[in-house]
Amino acid sequence: MSRPDWNARFSESEFAYGTEPNSFLAENANLLTTPVLSIGEGEGRNAVFMATQGLKVHAVDGSSVGLGKAERLAASHGVTFSTEVADLKDFEPQPTTYGGVVSIYAHLPSVVRGKLYPLLVQTLKPGGILILESYSEDQLNRSTGGPRELDRLLTCDKIESELVGLETVLLQEIDREVVEGKFHTGMASVIQFIGRKPV
Ligand SMILES: C[S@@+](CC[C@H](N)C(=O)[O-])C[C@H]1O[C@@H](n2cnc3c(N)ncnc32)[C@H](O)[C@@H]1O
Repeated sequence: MSRPDWNARFSESEFAYGTEPNSFLAENANLLTTPVLSIGEGEGRNAVFMATQGLKVHAVDGSSVGLGKAERLAASHGVTFSTEVADLKDFEPQPTTYGGVVSIYAHLPSVVRGKLYPLLVQTLKPGGILILESYSEDQLNRSTGGPRELDRLLTCDKIESELVGLETVLLQEIDREVVEGKFHTGMASVIQFIGRKPV
């Protein structure tokens, strides 16, 4: 199955994943400290939410259309954050910079994760928190959203072997109802991870 053309998807007036934040992030955003790096931010629903919580956010995504929409969503909420159009396969955040890193449904191939994930650990300051939610490999058995490629889907074992250097605060695979825009709707199999960089 072909992968989404993100600029085309985000060119519609509707927000593909809605304008409300991801619920796992919203429940745990109190753990984050400023500034926060959000990878694969898309149309800005999560960055806007974090900014309204008083967090300084840097939002990175490969889609200029998505981030343009994110900036307009921010303006309509009276908040701001910085944006950067970048392909995550080449993205190199500075070490020891962020109090939080957020990755919500940023489904990347293993070759990209293999380079990026150690840099995400490195870019956290001591005590910093990484929050991730992703569809799990079991999601291939469902038709409620997410990529159709096993390589882009996660398991708890993949998190443990690929995000090395963080203490696990929470790591679980669960089935839950995801209702976040028309592309993510229904019972889903997800991986949820919260990791803390040791002090
Ligand atoms: C399923 S959407 C999720 C968007 C957002 N995190 C949310 O939950 O609303 C996946 C996002 O990852 C971005 N993305 C996918 N692969 C990427 C890559 N290699 N580099 C940069 N962004 C990428 C897409 O542009 C898209 O915005």
